[in-house]
Amino acid sequence: MDKLLVNGGCPLDGEVQLSGSKNAVLPILIASLLCAEPLQVRNVPHLRDITTALKLLGHLGARVEFNEDQTVEVDSGDLHTLRAPYELVKTMRASILVLGPLLARFGEAEVSLPGGCAIGSRPVDLHIRGFRKMGAQVSIENGYIKATVGRGGLNGARILFDTVTVTGTENLLMAAVLARGITVLENAAREPEVVDLARCLIAMGGIIEGAGTDVITVKGVDALHGACHTVISDRIEAGTYLLAAAATRGRIRVIGYDPQQGDAVLEKLREAGALLSIDPRGLMLDMRKTQPQAVNLTTAPFPGFPTDMQAQFVLFNAVANGSSMVTETVFENRFMHVHELQRMGADIHLRGNTAVIQGVVGLSGAQVMATDLRASACLVLAGLVAEGETMIDRIYHIDRGYDRIEEKLSQCGASIRRIPGWPATSVLPFRDGGSASPPQS
Ligand code: UD1
Repeated sequence: MDKLLVNGGCPLDGEVQLSGSKNAVLPILIASLLCAEPLQVRNVPHLRDITTALKLLGHLGARVEFNEDQTVEVDSGDLHTLRAPYELVKTMRASILVLGPLLARFGEAEVSLPGGCAIGSRPVDLHIRGFRKMGAQVSIENGYIKATVGRGGLNGARILFDTVTVTGTENLLMAAVLARGITVLENAAREPEVVDLARCLIAMGGIIEGAGTDVITVKGVDALHGACHTVISDRIEAGTYLLAAAATRGRIRVIGYDPQQGDAVLEKLREAGALLSIDPRGLMLDMRKTQPQAVNLTTAPFPGFPTDMQAQFVLFNAVANGSSMVTETVFENRFMHVHELQRMGADIHLRGNTAVIQGVVGLSGAQVMATDLRASACLVLAGLVAEGETMIDRIYHIDRGYDRIEEKLSQCGASIRRIPGWPATSVLPFRDGGSASPPQS
């Protein structure tokens, strides 16, 4: 397995071009299952999760073409199975998203239950409850969710989510576009990735109102058609690079940033003392002349502070002035990075779902282990800040969600390089040699 070797202690200074949003691309690629014509998706990043999604679509029988210009075309005209196997679902939980489209278009689907992961139990009960409300018969057999619906197909329904769920909203939204009548999703997720999926579905002929609010109304249609959609840039990737520059007291311009998407993160960065400015080329952060101030924060669904940026802020606070509290409310076990940061000299104590952090003057390089995607990003940032060498093991987690991270950070002056493991791994779609990857979050 590959490792990353970071030689830290040097401020970042440079520019990064953002890639397409992982969490937007995944449901959008899967939305291709809703119609018999090709869907062309642009701005698709090279990530292991995308490789897994394309493998899954290929397994179902879709024809997938990945072009060098980051465009993927998926033609789901002729599928040969409606079953998503455990082997693929266990490596990427978002595979559950095939359930809605397959059920809506073909009247049946079988998807392995994803199970728990490093950051919590992550049930899919709200997805299942929603499909039942739309008239599907759903059972759990041998670790698989088996769903069928009678000849008339799914019916529109009013679905009230107990908890805001991003993939739950997306799964039901995709099912609703082909259901009979009107579906109203209440307490729906408002994340920009949900809005991007809705935009793609509308381009495919779906009738959807309210995406981006907590009530989404869908009028079902008989069939969707092919379309071409360009995905939004990755706000979590953007936030991670901004934090990398802030934590190293450097400067960075993120190109392709959409300021609408990341208000809560920008607000916290301003509170921490960062100078932020938008110019036609992107968003600029300058922390060279400022003493970083620790900030309190609590994660919440959009437009609240994203849980996917929590680990990176814990690292920032660990080397900022003052004490702070970071509270995680979305996932129950998302502080695995704290133990690794403590090994690098951070002063952090966990009290339930809150990390109590006292800023220290510096961290020291160490051998650390990545445990999930965003925890890995936090450890890379820690390596950039720390004096000496940090070796990060198990970076297959980071390859799930960060497109060429070592290349982008090197462009900003970081000393970071990949130490290839055995077998050699690659995240290029269909050249994935990472057969040794264990289950992912
Ligand atoms: C998505 C994102 C992930 C992000 C998370 C929260 C993708 C591919 N992943 O994950 O990066 O961290 O949103 O912003 O988009 N829950 C239930 N029952 C359900 C569904 C969810 O109890 O049926 C709970 C979860 O356990 C969790 C909370 O709801 O505590 C939010 O989870 P959810 O929004 O569903 O996360 P994902 O969609 O899996």
